[in-house]
Amino acid sequence: MSKRQTGLAILGACLLACSIGLAADPGVADPVQGQAAAAVCASCHQADGSGMNIPGAESWPRLAGLDATYLAKQIEDFKSGQRSSPTMQAFAQMLTDEQIPHVAAWFASLPAPSLSAAEPYSPELLERGRLLATEGDWDNYLVPCSSCHGPDNLGAGSVFPAIAGQHPAYIRDQLLNWQQGSRQNDPQQLMATVAARMSADDIQAVAAWLSTQPGTPEQKPE
Ligand code: HEC
Ligand code: HEC
Repeated sequence: MSKRQTGLAILGACLLACSIGLAADPGVADPVQGQAAAAVCASCHQADGSGMNIPGAESWPRLAGLDATYLAKQIEDFKSGQRSSPTMQAFAQMLTDEQIPHVAAWFASLPAPSLSAAEPYSPELLERGRLLATEGDWDNYLVPCSSCHGPDNLGAGSVFPAIAGQHPAYIRDQLLNWQQGSRQNDPQQLMATVAARMSADDIQAVAAWLSTQPGTPEQKPE
C-alpha cells in the first residue's frame, strides 16, 4: 500500500468511526430512554402497547410493533394539532420534542400483541373484508390495501403502517375520519382517496377482517 493509499484507508476508517460516533448521539432514538416517558401512555395504550378495542367509544390503538418513524410522526402531528384528537393532543404535549423519538422507539420495540378472540363476525362479512384488503374492488376503483400496506398488511417502511392485527373499532374510526375530513395528515391524501371510495359496509368488513389477522410475521400460521 502506498503512503497515499494508507492515508486514504485511515481517512475511510475515520469517516466510518466518526459516523458511528454520531449515531450514538443523544439525538438518536433510544427505547430505554423512551420507556419512562411512556408510563403516562399506559392507562390507555396499556403497558405492553396492545391498546384496547372499545366499540361505540374512542378506541385506543395498538402501538406495539408499529414502525418507530411512523409513530414519531403521528405524535408530532398530534402535538402540533395537524392530526386532530383532543385526547392525544394533551398527552403528546406532555412530551418534549427530544422525548418523542425515544417514546416511539419504545413502543416500536414491543412485540405485537397476540390476537384477541375474534368477535363473532359472519363469514360473508369476513370474506368481503379479505377481498378488499388483499384483492381490491376494481369496480369501485379500490386497489387492495396490501398494495400500500405491504404483503399481509403488516406495514411497509415508515410511511405505510401495519393495519393487520389492529383493533377493529380503531380502523373503522380512522376510515370514517378520512371520509369526514377530520384526519388530514396523511401524505398526498392517499388514505382520503381510498376511504372516499368505501361504503359503510366495506369499512365494517375490512376493519373486521384486518383485526382477525396476525399483527407480525411471526404470528402467521405455517
Ligand atoms: C386517555 C387515553 C390516551 C392516553 C393516556 C394516550 N393516548 Fe394515544 N391515543 C388515544 C386515542 C383515543 C387515539 C386515537 C386518536 C384518533 O382517533 O386519531 C390515540 C392514538 C395514538 C397514536 C396514533 C397511533 C396510530 O397508529 O396512528 C399514537 C402514536 C399515540 N396515541 C401515542 C401515545 C403516547 C406516546 C402516549 C403517552 C405520551 C399516549 N398516546 C397516551 C388515547 C390515549
Ligand atoms: C395508496 C396507498 C394506500 C392504500 C391503497 C391504502 N392505504 Fe391505508 N394508509 C396509507 C398511508 C400513507 C397511511 C399513513 C397515513 C399517515 O401517515 O397519517 C395509511 C394509514 C392507514 C390507517 C391508519 C393506521 C393507523 O395506525 O392509524 C388505516 C386504518 C388504513 N390506512 C387503512 C387502509 C385500508 C383498510 C385500506 C384498504 C381498503 C388502505 N388503508 C389502503 C396509504 C394507503
